[in-house]
Amino acid sequence: MNADAKREIYRQALRELDAVLADVADPITAMSTCAAVLHQRLPYASWTGFYRVVAPRLLRVGPYQGPLGCLEIPFDRGVCGAAAHQARAQVVPDVHAFPGHIACDEGARSEIVIPIHDARGRLVAVLDLDSHQPAAFDDVDREGLERIAERLSACLGGAGTASGD
Ligand code: SME
Repeated sequence: MNADAKREIYRQALRELDAVLADVADPITAMSTCAAVLHQRLPYASWTGFYRVVAPRLLRVGPYQGPLGCLEIPFDRGVCGAAAHQARAQVVPDVHAFPGHIACDEGARSEIVIPIHDARGRLVAVLDLDSHQPAAFDDVDREGLERIAERLSACLGGAGTASGD
């Protein structure tokens, strides 16, 4: 897909998320909605979702779309672990060339992972996208997803869950 077409997809996804996530402060609602919007709009994504930081140096799967993902990833494993450990986006054109890549889906060929911070700037999750196409993701995806990650941060205030009272 050419860069302009990708940019247009991310522009529309951000606009949709801006509208739908207005006043949303529930992290699960925000992450689920984000995964659905991105997975629906990106034709080259085979898996789209979140791994959350649930303990020091440990990620656990969160809301996602696509085939079964592995449940837990330590920070020292996989593309997701590298993104969390370095707090930096990982763009992987060939997952087989990435040392320690975790193959949840045998068909996956390329991957991108973006760190997600809460409103206070703490690393709370990573956003992971896989593709069955080689080199599906590039800097246009990274920029588009980082913009969406910033929007998502506003919904991740770290205030905890409502008591239901
Ligand atoms: N491939 C990832 C694991 C998660 S799945 O892609 C859903 C990794 O190496 O971290």
